[in-house]
Amino acid sequence: MILNKVSGLIGNTPMLALSIPDTASRLLLKIEKNNPGGSMKDRMARNMVLAALKSGRLKRGGVIIESSSGNTGIGLAMTAVEFGLQFIAVVDHHAAQDKIAVMKALGADVRFVSGTYQEDEVAVVERQRLAAELAMEIPGAVFMNQSDNAANAGGYSDFVREIVAQVDGKIDAYVGCVGTGGSMTGIARGLKLHNSDAVMVAVEPAGSIVFGQPGYPYYQSGTGTPAGDTVGLVLDYSCIDLGMQVTDSQAFETARYIARNTALLVGGSTGGVIYKALELVHKGVIGGNVVVPVADGGEKYLHTVFNDSWLEARGLTDQHVWSQLDDWLGTAHLLEYASPTLQLNVA
Ligand SMILES: Cc1ncc(COP(=O)(O)O)c(C=O)c1O
Repeated sequence: MILNKVSGLIGNTPMLALSIPDTASRLLLKIEKNNPGGSMKDRMARNMVLAALKSGRLKRGGVIIESSSGNTGIGLAMTAVEFGLQFIAVVDHHAAQDKIAVMKALGADVRFVSGTYQEDEVAVVERQRLAAELAMEIPGAVFMNQSDNAANAGGYSDFVREIVAQVDGKIDAYVGCVGTGGSMTGIARGLKLHNSDAVMVAVEPAGSIVFGQPGYPYYQSGTGTPAGDTVGLVLDYSCIDLGMQVTDSQAFETARYIARNTALLVGGSTGGVIYKALELVHKGVIGGNVVVPVADGGEKYLHTVFNDSWLEARGLTDQHVWSQLDDWLGTAHLLEYASPTLQLNVA
């Protein structure tokens, strides 16, 4: 099919099965990093803009404002180009440099919050404040406010439709990350309508406050709700069966392990979700077809998660995670990838 606009490339992402030895389960990785902006957030960013345009709140030639750690900002920057809008992204030092560079390349006006913050501290409260202030000051500007915007969760209806079709309706569990909660809510609601027995698991970074645990700084980017912030109105707890926490080391080492053993580059938050999904399968809490979104790709974290010195300097390396994953995925898994039945046609 030949498309005539970049937004036509959003969605219809492929699925990659990762079988788990000694169990009848497999992780079904939905490769959301294949969206044109490199993350699942392309879906909701466009949906939020469409909703604002439809309601008349936002006019052509108007200005969109959002506080973003990067991926939503990239999706909004693309949508702004499509609809002839201006986009002001309010960011902090926690956002990956490469994500900010992409937003700028797409024409976004990137504004950093002022103030001094620890390296692993997210300045989300100040980001929200500045974004709301700019929206009041600039004529024709609309603050997207993804944490409280119903069109965030609503942006994942195609994701649900796609995965149901990809696995013939046989979904036993979904394990996803939770930041604003938009993807978790939109996807879990949709899947529960389809099969009320499917288990919905939300994973936040240790240090995030979504599930009432004590808040402290963390390095996982784009996910969780940091201390001092409030959990977004978009998050519907009633559709989540289990809430879990994953440490930065578990998340990052898993992303690195998956890269080395399967050649798939996933981002840090996805590493965390894969770790927890495997743990739950091995504990027998979930099983069968377990869908996991690859929220974004490791390409966005080459200077951090995939940089040995960066990881070591912050004490985030942990060999135990590798042995644990070896145990869970086993040599059978490795052999499967280096399949002896694979015929290579070398000219
Ligand atoms: C890489 C990554 N993981 C997880 C999330 C969290 O997703 P949500 O805001 O839908 O909860 C985001 C959101 O920006 C993200 O960019």
